Amino acid sequence: MAIEVKDLTFAYPKSNNNALEHISVIIEKGEKVAIIGQNGAGKSTMVKTIDNIYKPTTGQIIIDGKDTAKMTTAQTAKMVGYVFQNPNDQIFNDNVVKEIEYVLRYWKLPEEEIIKRREEVLDITGIRPYIDIHPFDIPLPIRKFLTVAVVLAVDPDYVILDEPTAGQDNWGRNQLKIVMDYLQAKGKAIITISHDMEFVAENFDRVIVMAHKNIIADDDRRKIFYQQDILKDAKVKPPVSAQIAQALGLSGNILNMDELVRAL
Ligand SMILES: Nc1ncnc2c1ncn2[C@@H]1O[C@H](COP(=O)(O)OP(=O)(O)O)[C@@H](O)[C@H]1O
Ligand SMILES: [Mg+2]
Repeated sequence: MAIEVKDLTFAYPKSNNNALEHISVIIEKGEKVAIIGQNGAGKSTMVKTIDNIYKPTTGQIIIDGKDTAKMTTAQTAKMVGYVFQNPNDQIFNDNVVKEIEYVLRYWKLPEEEIIKRREEVLDITGIRPYIDIHPFDIPLPIRKFLTVAVVLAVDPDYVILDEPTAGQDNWGRNQLKIVMDYLQAKGKAIITISHDMEFVAENFDRVIVMAHKNIIADDDRRKIFYQQDILKDAKVKPPVSAQIAQALGLSGNILNMDELVRAL
């Protein structure tokens, strides 16, 4: 069971340049993968193409053996859930419960299953206290968890979180941990796009680095965050603990403050 990206090239309509060129990558069910790279590197474009929001210009996306070219966007979203960076791009109902139930009703799930899933995701995402508030009156960081709830309710095997820590305080970071533990316990793949290297280093074993319309590195976090040439090319800085460890010449590819303290 995997997402297979095969020689994907994508150009936006009316654009003279490709946004993505000849990308090939496999992400398996159960993996935790982070995609990093500077703004405009093509991270969101790649995941939107994986999720069949955009059609490849050339190349293929195969999910669990099925070519997305033969699937609708709704069918693909059942397999690969995508939580947009900006929740406002994803919310279109005037009520939290309606928003969560919308897709489940579209797929004509039995009523008791709809209720079961709705209740579960209301708890996992921590948005139950906001159930009677209009979605656009919910504070933006919490509104993002409404879109997480909508995606979790669909129960896809692959979940993409675009910048999940952006704008989140301690409440949000803690809730995000609960969501990720829940997904992992269910054997789901978690794919994140993030500029938050502390978050990436702490939670994602595998790191994919994008630059120049392509993937320039794809490896274990301990290797990626100690490859200066790659990080420089992608214009990303490793976690602060790794920067300090590097400056002090400490061994062991340190990635967090606990490890740094122990090494000192
Ligand atoms: N809707 C769009 N129409 C045309 N070009 C776009 C659109 N969205 C993104 N791009 C371009 O595609 C490239 C990749 O963008 P994007 O995937 O958003 O990067 P990232 O998510 O890594 O910041 C950039 O050059 C960007 O300007
Ligand atoms: Mg983006």
